[in-house]
Amino acid sequence: MRYLLNFFLSAMVLGGCVGVLGQNRTYNLGRTPSQEEIRSWDIAIGPSGKELPPGSGTALEGEKIYAEKCASCHGENGTKDAPGANHHPLVGGKGTLNTLNPVRSIGSFWPYATTVYDYIYRAMPANQGETLSPNEVYALTAVLLYWNGIIKETDVIDAKSLPKVQMPNRNGFLPPVPLPERQWNRRTYRRYGLYP
Ligand code: HEC
Repeated sequence: MRYLLNFFLSAMVLGGCVGVLGQNRTYNLGRTPSQEEIRSWDIAIGPSGKELPPGSGTALEGEKIYAEKCASCHGENGTKDAPGANHHPLVGGKGTLNTLNPVRSIGSFWPYATTVYDYIYRAMPANQGETLSPNEVYALTAVLLYWNGIIKETDVIDAKSLPKVQMPNRNGFLPPVPLPERQWNRRTYRRYGLYP
């Protein structure tokens, strides 16, 4: 018994040493990214919009670009039922979030207008992300906000005006719940007013 215990103890100590040694090993994989690479990956646009580039666009301009580059997948007006639309509506759904069939679009769901810019530049048209110019993205953002009834057709959308656009569901999100309460049971829901 004593022998076995000694054996296991030394095995554990040894194992620990190997673990520590492993941390010092270099694998000769990867390299430090260049400043240029870091800049080109750094495309996130936050709610304050401080990262937005120069440029501008209106819904009127956006309508033309949308017809050319977006309608093939999102339908001619971005709604759920537009002919040719994929499963992801960009427009509509206001007032449906607390129903049995919620439609989560930019207009009904998204809390920040700046995210529309971020998403379009980053990922659209699908498989051709980061190809649109800032003016095109501003114009497309404008037309989607216009079709959702959030701005006017002639409103100029740019780095200054976009962060000021108030989204309808801006206050529809809950603050993070402190850890001990993170049980999403009936009581928590009721506490945040989600259950009658
Ligand atoms: C080749 C098809 C295709 C084209 C063209 C396309 N999209 Fe999309 N788009 C998609 C798909 C698919 C999704 C859903 C992606 C997902 O959920 O992962 C999507 C999602 C989106 C979303 C996010 C919707 C949401 O609520 O999550 C936005 C905004 C969007 N597209 C805008 C555009 C704009 C603007 C254009 C034109 C520049 C465009 N798309 C062109 C296929 C396309």
